[in-house]
Amino acid sequence: MINIKLNAEEKKGQISRHLYGHFAEHLGRCVYEGLWVGVDSPVPNTEGIRNDVLGALKRLNIPVLRWPGGCFADEYHWMDGIGPASGRARMINNNWGGVEENNHFGTHEFLRLCELLNTEPYISGNVGSGTVREMQQWVEYMTFDGESPMANLRRENGRDEPWSLQFFGVGNENWGCGGNMRPEYYADLYRHYSTYVRNYGGNKVYKIACGPNTDHFHWTEVLMREAGGLMDGLSLHYYTIPSGNWFGSKGSATEFGTDEWFATLKNTLYMEELIVKHSEIMDKYDPEKRVGLIIDEWGTWCDVEPGTNPGFLYQQNTLRDALVAGINLNIFHKYCDRVKMANIAQMVNVLQALILTEGDKMLLTPTYHVFDMYQVHMDNQLLELQFDSPEYTYGDVSIPQISVSASQDSEGAIHLTACNLHHAERAKFRCHIEGANNRQVSGRILTHTSLNAHNTFEQPDLVAPAAFEEAVLKDGVLEFELPPASVLVLSLN
Ligand code: AHR
Repeated sequence: MINIKLNAEEKKGQISRHLYGHFAEHLGRCVYEGLWVGVDSPVPNTEGIRNDVLGALKRLNIPVLRWPGGCFADEYHWMDGIGPASGRARMINNNWGGVEENNHFGTHEFLRLCELLNTEPYISGNVGSGTVREMQQWVEYMTFDGESPMANLRRENGRDEPWSLQFFGVGNENWGCGGNMRPEYYADLYRHYSTYVRNYGGNKVYKIACGPNTDHFHWTEVLMREAGGLMDGLSLHYYTIPSGNWFGSKGSATEFGTDEWFATLKNTLYMEELIVKHSEIMDKYDPEKRVGLIIDEWGTWCDVEPGTNPGFLYQQNTLRDALVAGINLNIFHKYCDRVKMANIAQMVNVLQALILTEGDKMLLTPTYHVFDMYQVHMDNQLLELQFDSPEYTYGDVSIPQISVSASQDSEGAIHLTACNLHHAERAKFRCHIEGANNRQVSGRILTHTSLNAHNTFEQPDLVAPAAFEEAVLKDGVLEFELPPASVLVLSLN
């Protein structure tokens, strides 16, 4: 029995809704096909954006969407993507498969997508191969209200009113695909470029500096020391690679045994150590926690599906991905005093996608369902939980068997999400609730008897949430039992 003490009077901070953010890059079939089919497509669409995907994404109440990359961002020249589609420049997508990029999805189309989704845009600017002027003009083009060359150009292209732009990334992975820079050099470039990312009118841009790759602590140290005062956020990228090996095979998304199941979840839990260690460095320079840690790329990175373009990063998504998502989101909650945004990589058809498409067909992955189940936490107060997790031991390595998080919404409802990481053992919970008097409980569970269960276009609902009616709430004690390999959400009213 796992005993948990939940104190509803002990609030630990606000779980920003931006922890439920997304990322869509010009990569493989994410933007083109996955989101954008064009106005002349036989696939039903709204101004070129496919309706089925749009409808599914709307149900998630997506708070923020990052675009256009990724590595693509540091080769993207935004002026290529405005004006009549037929006149737009064609370029090579050098990072992702060397395919043609026709620029049909540009600034107007992206910001329209954000409007349709009622989501806040997060744009990544080009530091690697773009100029300061280009970055300054892009922000002016999008947000300036008065008479100016860029605002007038925007009007000529059919948009009178400026957009509101909340988040702007000054470069992406500038330690790698974004220019192979040293942190000292990038810190100076950040200071330089970000000066010209201006606030026009009432628009206030939250500026995000390129942060470290995984455990590159020196990068965090230098950026915070040299430029911490000029940024609002510092990014962190960490992917779960099943094999733990970047350069050989990363592991199949669907063909795996219990050893790879365990290794994948263990590698996911490393996210917590990274957040703690990078936060310690940030605390030194920013004890008030003004600068947000922005985990704007996370998720599983597997080998591509056999027979698909290796540059397109298309992978299937199983129950294991659901656990990866559930664990990561619970970790982000726990550190919500420092972690202010997170963006799963990526939204459609790439890496740990929420949605997969094939022609006019679409399916929702187990990861989509976890985002759907967890959305009850958005903007809630994180609640204190005290418990000791049993160990999940495989060979001679142990990790915690469970991952749990709880929050309270503005109406007093308590929401609890729990993952049972164990591939074979059940987990029995008894949760003692203090400081609240909720009486009813309802829930949904995502699980399957097969660890690699996944949805296909033939069987799109093989892994889908089911009502969970086995939880009992009586006299402030909540009891429930989780099957192996499961993700659960409970709401107490
Ligand atoms: O998400 C895929 C790629 O991973 C991004 O383009 C890049 O930023 C990271 O290396």
